[in-house]
Amino acid sequence: MIATRARELIVVTTRFNADFPAFAAMAAHGWRIHFVSTPTAVESLLAKSNRKALAGVIDLRDPQGQTDYAAYIQNLPRERMGWVAAIDPGQLESKHIRHLIRDVCFDFITVPCPDSTIESVLGHALGVATLHSESTRPTVPEEQAFGGMIGSSPEMRALYKLIRRAAPSLAPVYIAGETGTGKELAAAAIHHLSHRSAFPFVAINCGAIPQHLMQSELFGYERGAFTGAQQRKLGRFELANKGTLFLDEIGDLPLDSQASLLRFLQEGFIERLGGTDAIRVDVRVVSATHHDLEAAVAAGRFRADLYHRLCVIRLKQPPLRSRGDDILQLAEHALKLYNGTGQTQMKGFSNCALKAIQAYAWPGNVRELLNRVHQAVVMAEGRYITSKDLGIDDGAAGPVQTLAAARDAAEVQVINSALRRNLYRVGHCAKELGISRITLYRLMKQHGLRADTVDGAAELG
Ligand SMILES: Nc1ncnc2c1ncn2[C@@H]1O[C@H](COP(=O)(O)OP(=O)(O)OP(=O)(O)O)[C@@H](O)[C@H]1O
Ligand SMILES: [Mg+2]
Repeated sequence: MIATRARELIVVTTRFNADFPAFAAMAAHGWRIHFVSTPTAVESLLAKSNRKALAGVIDLRDPQGQTDYAAYIQNLPRERMGWVAAIDPGQLESKHIRHLIRDVCFDFITVPCPDSTIESVLGHALGVATLHSESTRPTVPEEQAFGGMIGSSPEMRALYKLIRRAAPSLAPVYIAGETGTGKELAAAAIHHLSHRSAFPFVAINCGAIPQHLMQSELFGYERGAFTGAQQRKLGRFELANKGTLFLDEIGDLPLDSQASLLRFLQEGFIERLGGTDAIRVDVRVVSATHHDLEAAVAAGRFRADLYHRLCVIRLKQPPLRSRGDDILQLAEHALKLYNGTGQTQMKGFSNCALKAIQAYAWPGNVRELLNRVHQAVVMAEGRYITSKDLGIDDGAAGPVQTLAAARDAAEVQVINSALRRNLYRVGHCAKELGISRITLYRLMKQHGLRADTVDGAAELG
């Protein structure tokens, strides 16, 4: 919820004072306004305020041109603040100033400017800062850090609930979801929450092992099973005994291994290559793939009977773009993780970066987010990560290959921005986009987008 009680404003200036007409009018409208002369004085004012967020004006007008703008602006506290720069007409010609404003401020006003515009821009800056203060909590509460998975969106909470329910059972679990959504983390969480947690969690990527080696990798071999087999080797099944075996990219499993896996799931036995004994192993199987396993079954590349045995419990990792404010939380997590690996210690994300992070479709999901933030931390020139540092500054839709994918990415970006701009009021958003509410709901459902507050959530089901 946006705070509606007394709004606070901090003005960093040596030139404005309380008599400035716009500020006098704002005070009459219930704003509490504090004037300070340096950015460093803002910190102590913030410490005294119990507001979730405050608006701020940073006065950059400097007819003598003596200010070191970068040092001046970068000392501004960012958390809880929505900054607006006040500048003279003409100052925008400086690329340096433009970039500083872009990185730190929500908006700018050129003075002189109508009083009502100043109040409205500051009201908007305060509203956006309030939203960010709710979404980018610096620490992740324990219950949200589920098995190392960050996120508290309804989609992730529903997943945690399913994982908790599925973990104690012996039944095989199949995890679907796009690449980079955290399927392996979910598999590990299932293991750690199960009664098997004291025993091994063994993961194998079926897509990364040459097909002719798969059988021996999974089931092991006896001495002399083939040329070069000088001693018995245990396979992953036996290594995972009493624990959990995670078969990633299960769709790539060759047909002979599919038959052996099916036998294990039906009877609980395996056979080493070159051996004759049926060996009983106690292993819980969790599998995953980002490919369409149903399509592989339909095409005859994957056995239907095995598919049904593997998918006794089925989970789906939601795509990152449908996780609402989790995206920002994960971005902050990534920044903490990688900060310090570059030459400069980063202070945070610039406003343009935050906007871009929210609008981008993230086709590579959490893995892509981690990689982009890592790259930005290493390559950034300023103290705040910009959308350019993240490589998503011009609405770039990432590795889009087809026109349909480009159209989808653009649609997601436009709808996401409109939803945020309209504070998730679907009716307002539909009006702005010039489509009906029904069409908007349909598009949101199609793209896995969510109405955060509200009137549409139930319908999206
Ligand atoms: N909710 C999350 N919180 C924190 N880190 C996450 C989360 N989800 C995924 N990650 C991280 O993102 C990266 C990708 O996750 P993971 O390997 O589990 O994805 P995946 O779905 O198995 O991808 P693929 O289909 O490509 O194998 C990992 O570094 C993982 O630690
Ligand atoms: Mg994986």
